[in-house]
This record gives sequence, structure tokens and C-alpha cells, in this order.
Amino acid sequence: MSLLIDALKRKNKNRPPVWMMRQAGRYHDHYQEMKKKYSFIELCKTPEAACETTMGPIRDFDFDAAILFSDILFPLEVMGMGLEYSPGPKLSFHLDSKEKIESLNIDPEGAKKLSFQSEALKLIRSQLPSEKGLIGFVGAPLTLYFYAAVGSHKGDLTLAKDGVTNGQWELFHSKLYQLLLDNMLLQARAGAEAIALFDTCGGEISFDHYQHAVVPLLKELLTSFKKQAPNTPIIYYSKKTTKNHWKTLVDLPIECIGVDWNTPITEVLEEFGDRFAIQGNFDPNDFFLDTNQFNEKLLHYFEEIKKLPATKREGWICGLGHGVLPKTPQEHVKKFVVLQKEIFG
Ligand code: CP3
Repeated sequence: MSLLIDALKRKNKNRPPVWMMRQAGRYHDHYQEMKKKYSFIELCKTPEAACETTMGPIRDFDFDAAILFSDILFPLEVMGMGLEYSPGPKLSFHLDSKEKIESLNIDPEGAKKLSFQSEALKLIRSQLPSEKGLIGFVGAPLTLYFYAAVGSHKGDLTLAKDGVTNGQWELFHSKLYQLLLDNMLLQARAGAEAIALFDTCGGEISFDHYQHAVVPLLKELLTSFKKQAPNTPIIYYSKKTTKNHWKTLVDLPIECIGVDWNTPITEVLEEFGDRFAIQGNFDPNDFFLDTNQFNEKLLHYFEEIKKLPATKREGWICGLGHGVLPKTPQEHVKKFVVLQKEIFG
């Protein structure tokens, strides 16, 4: 048993687990060393290198969970969209018409091209201490759609004009669905103890579209996943979403919601903690404060949570409201984990 799994069940009576999205990334010396030998794509696709990259932050910072080193965009590559990183992702074309979406490669065996992820997961599990959790991940369909359609998520995203979708999102989803489901199953079968769905674009579209055009399709995907992997919990992370968004998720087979820093975590725990485990949500920008201010902010953040009755923390997974930023001082990441263990240990 791990702290991560206990917290996902909302039955963790010990210290809350701590891990961070992008815990393996450019801020860390170990990652920079790996990047001298491998490109980003080679790191992801060479299982030994992906394993070593995943393990670096576990050894250096003693996080309670490892996350597979990979990326969310590989299913788009499998569908024929080309993929390069320089260093941000570049697809060879964007899905700006129904014809382009129709032309995507749909191969029922497509997930076999993602076997580098299952190989890496097996290696990681063999090296990871048994008390540490192992997280697999995929991009949530909406976020993959926006990367495929516009290549990024900066600016105003919409599924269509005038309040109705123009059908491209739904068409894309129907093309992606089986591959994404197989990708999640492949990771679960290779030893991922939980699967994170990253929906970074979730809060950028209208609430109406989120509720009526996105959530029902997410429900379909996760219901199918659960039929085949009933014991693998789902962590659904979304950014710029609000309580109204999370309320639309209560009937979905989701064990944990990951939230950004725009809502105080104490409120999220109090209002949603009886239904979901809650992951988050320290602001990653605060790592850039000078050390005194950073310590103060972090202490205050933890103390507010400590004031809650202990039962309210049984489903808390401590982490950030998004990923560790590239230039983050690594001493502050270290301090975060050390202080978390002191305060809640
Ligand atoms: O440690 C971990 O969390 C696992 C690794 C991980 C990466 N990407 C590695 C990576 C995870 C979980 C992701 C998820 C991911 N990838 C998301 C969802 C979460 C989020 O960040 O919002 C998205 C949208 C992507 C797509 C993607 N990949 C982008 C936008 C970028 C460029 C960002 C940047 O920092 O330049 C990537 C590249 C990428 N993925 C890097 C890493 C470590 C940087 C590559 C490098 O320059 O070395």
C-alpha cells in the first residue's frame, strides 16, 4: 500500500502524499544531465532513459509518487500528425477542417506504437520502492483536441461560434476515442497504479460547452476504462476550472480531481472532499519568491490545511496547481517536500 493509493481512496490516516506534475523537468540538474545525452523524444521513447528520468526526482527529492516520463501528444503522432519538440511541441499540420479530421489514421492496433510507455512503466516499477506510487497519464480529449486543432492553448479557445459546437470536436473525439482508451489500459496493465488525465484547457471554453459537449464524452471514455480496469483510480486535472465545473463531474467514475491555485484548497477539501480525493494546489509561480518570502508563503499554505479536521485531509494529495516551471530553483522544490513532511509527518 502507498500513501498515494490510500489518499485516492480518501482513507489516508498518515501523512498526505506529495508529488508534482513536471517533477522531472528542466529545473532539475538530473534532467539537464539526461538532456545532454538524449533529445526529449528519445528520453520518452527509450524505456531505460524514461525510467532513469522518472527516478531522478524520486531519488533527489523523495516524492511519494513517480509519474511516467512521457508526454500527452504521442497519440496524435500515432494518428499521423507528426510530432517534434523545439522545445515546445510542433505538429506537422493542424486539424482546421472536417476533411483533415476525417483523414486521420485510425488503426485499431495503434496503441502498440505506444509500447515504449509500458516498457518504461515496468522498468520504473522494478526500481521504485514499493511504498511509492506510480502514476501513468494521458491528455484528456479536449486538451488533445486543442493541441491538434490550434497547436497550443494560449488565447481564446472555443469549440465553435454562437453557442453550438460545429461538430469538429465530436468528430475528433470519435477518431481518438479507442486509441486513448487503449493507451490508458496499456499503462494500467503495465503497472500504473493510477491514471492522470490532464485537461489543461478544461477551463478555457464556455461553461455551457464544458458541461454539455465535453463532460458526457469524458464520462463515456472513463466508464469504458473502468469496465476494463476497475481498480485503477483516475486523477482528473483541469486548469482554470471552478466549483461549477467540478460539480458536473460528480457522476463520473473519477476518484480524484486536481485543481489549480485559483480556489483555496481548504474550500475544495471542505466542499468536494466527501466525493473526490483532491490534488493540488500550491501556485508554482511562488517558487520564484525570494527564499524568506517563499518559506513564509509555504508555511502559511500548509498551516491553513493543518487547521482543518484531520478527517478532511484523508483524501488530500499534496502538490501544485500546475507543473513545476522550467526555471524553478530546485532548492525550493526540495524545501517544499521537506517542510510538508515536517508539518504533516
Ligand atoms: O514529470 C512529469 O510530470 C512527467 C512528464 C510530463 C511531461 N509533459 C514532460 C515534458 C507530463 C505529465 C507532461 C504533460 C503534458 N505535456 C501536458 C499536460 C500538463 C500541462 O503541462 O499542462 C501538456 C499540455 C503537454 C504538452 C507539452 N509537452 C508542452 C506544452 C511542452 C512544452 C512545455 C515546455 O515546458 O517547454 C511539452 C514538452 C515537455 N513535456 C517537456 C517535458 C519535461 C519539456 C521538454 C524539454 O524542453 O526538455
